[in-house]
Amino acid sequence: MTPTGFESPKPVLAIEGLTVSFDGFKAVNDLNLYVDRNEVRVVIGPNGAGKTTVLDLICGKTRATAGSIQFEGRELTKMREYDIVRAGVGRKFQNPSIYENLTVFENLEMSYPAGRKVFGALFFKRTAEVIERVEQVATEIGLGEHLQRQADLLSHGQKQWLEIGMLLMQDPQLLMLDEPVAGMSVAERQATAELLKRISQGRSVLVIEHDMEFVKSIAHRVTVLHQGKVLAEGSMEAVQSNPKVIEVYLGH
Ligand SMILES: Nc1ncnc2c1ncn2[C@@H]1O[C@H](COP(=O)(O)OP(=O)(O)OP(=O)(O)O)[C@@H](O)[C@H]1O
Ligand SMILES: [Mg+2]
Repeated sequence: MTPTGFESPKPVLAIEGLTVSFDGFKAVNDLNLYVDRNEVRVVIGPNGAGKTTVLDLICGKTRATAGSIQFEGRELTKMREYDIVRAGVGRKFQNPSIYENLTVFENLEMSYPAGRKVFGALFFKRTAEVIERVEQVATEIGLGEHLQRQADLLSHGQKQWLEIGMLLMQDPQLLMLDEPVAGMSVAERQATAELLKRISQGRSVLVIEHDMEFVKSIAHRVTVLHQGKVLAEGSMEAVQSNPKVIEVYLGH
């Protein structure tokens, strides 16, 4: 399960000394975290450890009190949410934010960066480009046969994949997912694991998850967060047998 082959000389994402204080309470406390290209990193840890807050900080939803988040050489802590998306960071929240009364095709089309801004002579050319991209992404997320289906008729798992597809339309270099398999069937979890392995090719994926079977099946490395700090980091095997991790998290 360890990553093999070429590793980029510099991490795609480099978080250093990251701290956020809510009325004096440090939800994230002097955190260091480095993620490589082609890597699937999973962050685990007890409730309230600060996992979701780390994603909020990376995507600019929450402002850091101190520290730095370097993404492909750019400092994200000073950028606006919208610009962070444009810089190539996609983030999926726990509840899918798809348009239930639109089809799979329309949901994906809406997410294409240039999809809604073209007129006149360019229109037909761009439309072909959009259609091609929508079909490509739909196949990637396993919804190639359901393009004309209205989103509210999809299963829970398919809705989650559709939202991942909407992020993929923007071709993010860093994709962040908060508890992507919560509420999914066993078969949907397995399909999601395969999907994440495919889409990590050429990009970085940062996943928060509590389901240990799922974590084991996708993680190149695991980071255990506890009280806003890294408690342990390494392979799933190493982390699972770490006495500190068993004490604060896995033992319960
Ligand atoms: N905007 C906020 N204002 C005040 N406190 C916050 C805010 N966001 C998060 N917190 C607190 O920070 C701590 C970390 O919360 P966070 O949601 O990051 O935990 P988590 O690791 O994602 O937990 P879970 O596994 O339950 O999702 C919690 O104590 C939470 O109450
Ligand atoms: Mg959370």
